[in-house]
This record gives sequence, structure tokens and C-alpha cells, in this order.
Amino acid sequence: MESAAFASRHGALVSKAEEALRRLTPPADARPARLHAAMRHSLDAGGKRLRPVLCLASAEAFDAKADASFAAVALECVHTYSLIHDDLPCMDDSDLRRGRPSCHKAFDEATALLAGDALLALAFELLATGYADRPALAARLVQELARTAGSRLLVGGQAEDMGGLAAGATDERLDFILAGKTAAMIGASFAMGAMTGGANEDDVGRFRRAGLAMGRAFQLVDDLLDLTADAASLGKPAGADAVNGKLTHVGLHGEAATRRLIGQLTAEAEAELRETRADCAFLVELARRMSARRN
Ligand code: IPE
Ligand code: IPE
Ligand code: MG
Ligand code: MG
Ligand code: MG
Repeated sequence: MESAAFASRHGALVSKAEEALRRLTPPADARPARLHAAMRHSLDAGGKRLRPVLCLASAEAFDAKADASFAAVALECVHTYSLIHDDLPCMDDSDLRRGRPSCHKAFDEATALLAGDALLALAFELLATGYADRPALAARLVQELARTAGSRLLVGGQAEDMGGLAAGATDERLDFILAGKTAAMIGASFAMGAMTGGANEDDVGRFRRAGLAMGRAFQLVDDLLDLTADAASLGKPAGADAVNGKLTHVGLHGEAATRRLIGQLTAEAEAELRETRADCAFLVELARRMSARRN
């Protein structure tokens, strides 16, 4: 896809995601104001909005049979909650997120914990109410996001990630962590977008698999950037994985092998997308760009 066309489509999708985020989440002055201000602090800080963009673009790839905004915002709420909790002193103990003091630094630990809890609940409220006129679709979306956010995937990956190198430096453990803490949400972003777009089951499955491959690559890049970039460009601390004794592919196999695997996974994602009957040029280009990103 041509660069200018990609940039304009990407910009439009980010704007659509941010407009929906503002519209569908509570204002900072709603009672209790400190809690809502903490939620807004983390939501409004920006970030790449990758998951909502993937969801909106996946829906459009199938002619968008339903408004994907509710699903897109639900994904960003779960993602933002996972970042707020990931930064807590009992987890990665990180003071900077999205270029701002992390939620527990700007507020306090209890408020950050509760802001994360509230964002998780809000995600499911948005799916149930946003698709109330399409109960079968609502149930599929709730099931997809609940499974993804749960103890076998997102939270399960985070749980094993906390064990770090000390819990065993094997590829099998690393794969479980990558698949759970990061790839599952990116797989769900594609799948939930495809569902709202009206894709058939086969194409939903292909989109999910594309997202799982892209998501594993995404975390490999995150780990590479932690090693090679600086806090100013990342908007979060660099070098944190070494300090925290994390198990990463780059730590286990080195930069060259990690870059090769990122290339393979990105090609895998592209091949899955091309198997579908969807118009996936934008998604293919986004996957390529994410594999070479610098923040
Ligand atoms: C950070 O995700 C956590 C990972 C899963 C690597 P992003 O890099 O998508 O963070 P934001 O949303 O742009 O802040
Ligand atoms: C991301 O892993 C995990 C989730 C937030 C689910 P990291 O701990 O590497 O993410 P960053 O580097 O803090 O964004
Ligand atoms: Mg972490
Ligand atoms: Mg972290
Ligand atoms: Mg990281």
C-alpha cells in the first residue's frame, strides 16, 4: 500500500478510535472524581491505539455490518487496565507510561488498582450495551474478550511473566508468555473486528491467527526496544526487562535471531490475511510497519 494512502487511512482510524474513547468512557469529573480522573489520565495519554485501530480496520475489511466502535473502545479499556496494573510496584514497578507518570505515580496505588478494575468492567458493559440490538454478536464479542483477558491468556501470561528468568528460561515458557500477555489481545482485536464486520467463521479464525502471529512479533519488538531504545522515544522506561530479570526472546537468543523471528511472524500474519476474502492491504501494511516500529 502506498505510503500517503496508508498514513491518511491510519490517521482517520486513530481519530475515530479517540473520538469513540472520549464519547464512550466516563468524564473525569463524574463521581468519584479521583477514580475517573485516574482512568482518564491513562486513557487520554495517547499510545498507539493499535488494538482499536486493528478492530476498526478489520471490521471495514468485511464492509462493517455493525458499528465496531464499541468493540474498539472495549479493547483499549482492557489494554489500558493491563498497562496500569503492569506498572504497579508489585508488578513491573514502572514510573512512566505513555510519556506521563504512570497511574499509581500520578495518583496512588489504591486508585490505580481501582482504575484498572473499573476499565475492565467498563469493557464488558460497552459490549453488552453497544450490541444490545444484536444479542448473538454481543455474546460472541463478550466471550472472545473474556477468554482473552482471562487466566489462560492475558492474565495467565502476566502471571508467568512475573516469574521471570528465575522460573526457567525455556522457549516453551517464553511462548506461553508471549501468546498470553500480548498476542491474545491482538488476535482478539482482529477477531472482534471481523465479527462486527460480518465475517464468516473461517475468516474470523484466519483474522485471529493473523493477529496472534502479529502479536507475538509485537512483543518481540517491545522487548528489543526495551534493550535498544530510550525512554524519551518509548514514553516508558528503557532497560526495565534486565532490571526486572524478565524472560525475553532477545535475552535468550540475541538480537539477530529475534529480528529473524519477527520477520517470519509478520510474513505468517500476512499469509493468513491473504487467505481471506477481505480487503486486507491496510492491515498487511500495518503489520509490516509494526515490525519495524521505534516506539
Ligand atoms: C505495550 O503495548 C504493552 C505491550 C503489550 C507490549 P503498546 O506498545 O501497544 O502500548 P501503547 O498502547 O502504545 O501505549
Ligand atoms: C506487556 O509486557 C504486558 C501487558 C501489559 C499485558 P511489558 O511489561 O513488556 O509491557 P511494557 O514494556 O511495560 O509496556
Ligand atoms: Mg510486564
Ligand atoms: Mg511492563
Ligand atoms: Mg516491555
